[in-house]
Amino acid sequence: MYHQPVLLTESIESLNIRPDGIYVDATYGGGGHSQEILKRLGKSGKLLGFDRDEDALANKIDDDRVILINHNYRFLKNFLTYYNALPVDGILADLGVSSHQFDVAGRGFSIRLSGELDMRMNRRQNLTAARVLNEYEEERLAKVFRDYGELTNGHSIAARIVKARSEKSIATFDDLRTVLSRFAHPGRENKFWARVFQALRIEINNELDALKEMLEQALQVLKPGGRLVVISYHSLEDRLVKHFMKTGNFEGIAQKDFFGNVHSPFKMITKKPVVPGSEEISTNSRSRSARLRVAEKQ
Ligand SMILES: C[S@@+](CC[C@H](N)C(=O)[O-])C[C@H]1O[C@@H](n2cnc3c(N)ncnc32)[C@H](O)[C@@H]1O
Repeated sequence: MYHQPVLLTESIESLNIRPDGIYVDATYGGGGHSQEILKRLGKSGKLLGFDRDEDALANKIDDDRVILINHNYRFLKNFLTYYNALPVDGILADLGVSSHQFDVAGRGFSIRLSGELDMRMNRRQNLTAARVLNEYEEERLAKVFRDYGELTNGHSIAARIVKARSEKSIATFDDLRTVLSRFAHPGRENKFWARVFQALRIEINNELDALKEMLEQALQVLKPGGRLVVISYHSLEDRLVKHFMKTGNFEGIAQKDFFGNVHSPFKMITKKPVVPGSEEISTNSRSRSARLRVAEKQ
């Protein structure tokens, strides 16, 4: 299976789908969420899907109401303008990586598989994990591990990589494991490697900037009353989503008028993030870190 959709019922219900509406699935993947949206759309409804990974194109649903766009969702507004699809009634973004991307060894996303250090969602781009590890200056590498992997010893990790690569370049996960094994505490190895991989993945795919751009454009392209539904998988993206939905900016600073009344471009629909129940987690362990947040444009 390409991908098992997470929080499917909760996310689709939150979109409040109108049969004749225009909806965006910003992260099409295997098309699991899109399929559910389509079931609720009538003949004149429309669905525009985005995925920067060309593998997702193989999952295109054969339906005249669907347009699948093989591009980064950071170009949301441009494509919606091009397809004459403005404004839209709802946007769903199920962030991160699909099971397909994790499970294919050559893609380099999984700590369970050895192989090339790639991690590109869009394989037309040049920057790979191996290039980051072999070419970035020490300071820049340290920042990647500190800011995106939340690794407090980012500097020591970067220094170790720079020393090791001067003797032999780092091409595979096995190479990296040898270089950094001293930092992985016994019993907590997976957690350490998950953070290293998260940091590299965010850097290579410029994930946080793309998310910020998409959220800002979502606000511009949604109709008043339109819903923004986002599922995130780690605290860095969830914080951006939460702040933006609550305040309209990424710092989470409430905008007040002269009288002290708080103004936000969105009304929060979920006061707290919705998380998967134990049943979903037991059938789909990848759902365990998911957090769903929903806001309505005012
Ligand atoms: C968690 S999966 C989505 C799975 C999908 N909801 C389903 O039910 O099959 C995330 C997908 O978003 C894509 N993606 C991640 N960042 C993206 C971006 N900036 N622009 C477009 N697609 C992106 C990935 O390639 C991946 O296929």
